[in-house]
Amino acid sequence: MTVIRSLITGCGSYLPERILTNNELARMVETTDEWIVERTGIRQRHIAAEGETTADLACRAAEAAMKHAGVSASDLDLIVVATATPDNTFPATATKVQARLGMTGGAAFDVQAVCSGFIYALAVADNFVKAGQSRCALVIGAETFSRILDWTDRNTCVLFGDGAGAVILQAGGGAGDAADRGILTTHIHSDGRHHDLLYVDGGPSTTQTVGHLRMSGREVFRHAVVNLAQVVDEALAAVDLPASAIDWLIPHQANKRIIDGTARKLGLPMEKVVLTVAKHGNTSAASIPLALAEAVQDGRVQRGQLLLLEAMGGGFTWGSALVRW
Ligand code: ACO
Repeated sequence: MTVIRSLITGCGSYLPERILTNNELARMVETTDEWIVERTGIRQRHIAAEGETTADLACRAAEAAMKHAGVSASDLDLIVVATATPDNTFPATATKVQARLGMTGGAAFDVQAVCSGFIYALAVADNFVKAGQSRCALVIGAETFSRILDWTDRNTCVLFGDGAGAVILQAGGGAGDAADRGILTTHIHSDGRHHDLLYVDGGPSTTQTVGHLRMSGREVFRHAVVNLAQVVDEALAAVDLPASAIDWLIPHQANKRIIDGTARKLGLPMEKVVLTVAKHGNTSAASIPLALAEAVQDGRVQRGQLLLLEAMGGGFTWGSALVRW
């Protein structure tokens, strides 16, 4: 062994029971199923029940991931929760999850990078593992975006949904090359100049309210295509692999047209792309681990395969990770 690698040894997810279809939305705002499907690929989304919180969804996903990996709360030494919709302004949702899981040691904290949150959290946890400061980390993406939507704004309310996904990272060894199993490379970026293109118009220090999501959709789309292409190329260059080496693209599920564009640029056929956007909508930080868990559970993702994860979100933030399963 020459390097420490973070192996993803388990994954799990959870979606609230209630499904909200496009046709139901068409009775709430001036929209149609056809418009939503054509512009976004979304057909339905899940919505948390009254009183069901981000921590509730996170715990369900975490328990599934822990079971899959065969680890218990006493094995964990780190929890990182990616969320933009925490239960409370403070403390971190991660500490609530920590208590519920029965983990009494280690550290738990939240990471806030909106739709890129899972990539950010994965990068943070991977670096803790590589530095020898964690041997078994739980990384969760969990959101209840239904709570910050303006349900009278057709530009935004049709796009998002609630859910959670989680992975377990465990320290393992590798030769230090692209044939290793585990997280091979992560890349995160941000550019705060674009705050006003995608933000929530509330917060403790500004309005003392939670606020609602506001977005300039067309502008976000334009930046997403450019930034994702850049960060995907960066990841492949870092491990000196061609796009043809990718077995599965597991992208953030914001909009099918953005995903199609990324796959096209990489020269990947859509059969190699894990798509959940039709069923889940955009679940922000939860979308990648939700898609990953689905593709692992149904047997698409096989040991030794190369997975490319990528996301872009408010801030702007964006990032990518290459993982050998
Ligand atoms: N139903 C019907 N019409 C609508 C709806 C709706 N739900 N929403 C907007 N429209 C109308 C607009 O009012 C506009 O009408 P107008 O021309 O009379 O003004 C028309 O449709 C076209 O609007 P555009 O914004 O130009 O439509 P576009 O093709 O860009 O699609 C969309 C909008 C789907 C939001 C697209 O821009 C997009 O997906 N952007 C990316 C945003 C995104 O994914 N954000 C998620 C967070 S960031 C991330 O995760 C990457």
